[in-house]
Amino acid sequence: MVTERGRRPIGMFDSGVGGLTVARSVIDVLPHEDLIYFGDTARCPYGPRSHDEVRDFALDIMDLLVAEDVKLLVVACNSAASTTAIAEARERYDVPIISVIEPGVRAAVAATRNRRIGLLGTERTVGSGAYDDALGHTKANVEMFSRACPRFVEFVERGDTASAELLEAAHEYLDPLKDRGVDTVILGCTHYPLLAGVIQFVMGEDVVLISSAEATATEVYARLVTDGMLNDRETLGVHRFISSSAEATFGELGERFLGPEFKAFEHRPWSVRT
Ligand code: DGL
Repeated sequence: MVTERGRRPIGMFDSGVGGLTVARSVIDVLPHEDLIYFGDTARCPYGPRSHDEVRDFALDIMDLLVAEDVKLLVVACNSAASTTAIAEARERYDVPIISVIEPGVRAAVAATRNRRIGLLGTERTVGSGAYDDALGHTKANVEMFSRACPRFVEFVERGDTASAELLEAAHEYLDPLKDRGVDTVILGCTHYPLLAGVIQFVMGEDVVLISSAEATATEVYARLVTDGMLNDRETLGVHRFISSSAEATFGELGERFLGPEFKAFEHRPWSVRT
């Protein structure tokens, strides 16, 4: 029996197309759920921005999604999840909020064999120490080595997931991490799973790459079941995609990165800040 709350959509956002990796996993695990995805492509990238700026953007978007009557929020952007926005949003709304950080950390702790893990993320995420805090909370005896890879987001946002220039950048970012002997690497930016080919190639096949997308989708499922909010209807869910920029790239990459569920997108510009 579907409750009134269960019929409402899941809300999810990222600075751009990266969070579509999380959307893909959520749709795979929960095909009957309605979903609203917001990509803040007009203000992407978040990685080089200040804490307060990214926090404000994240709260703007969560306000917008809550106004759409979502039943659960997924912060599918590590840079946004690394700010105080989630804690503030938990005070502001009566809606459960799931971050991509903790599920990724738990998956990495479970996967490492030599207790040395790597973290790749934006400058904002790595600099915030949010992953170090999340790892500390697990109380696991694991060492983490972090590396900010700012240019990776630019490659993904222009649809480049396999060029020679990307491979060169990957060596620059990843070779020092490889020298640390990590056996597991957290893709701590939702754009990075789209670069899994080049990252795996440079790190070597013995290194386990952790994309928080699957772990986050599992957590979304668990939360919906626990809170009695699962939409258990027979028909498939409706998926809406909203972008803050009108540029066609969001549509082109959306279709490529998410697949057939991405049919069209709505443009919702920010009038105040860019
Ligand atoms: N995909 C995002 C993240 O997970 C943001 C990348 C960016 O906008 O810099 O951090």
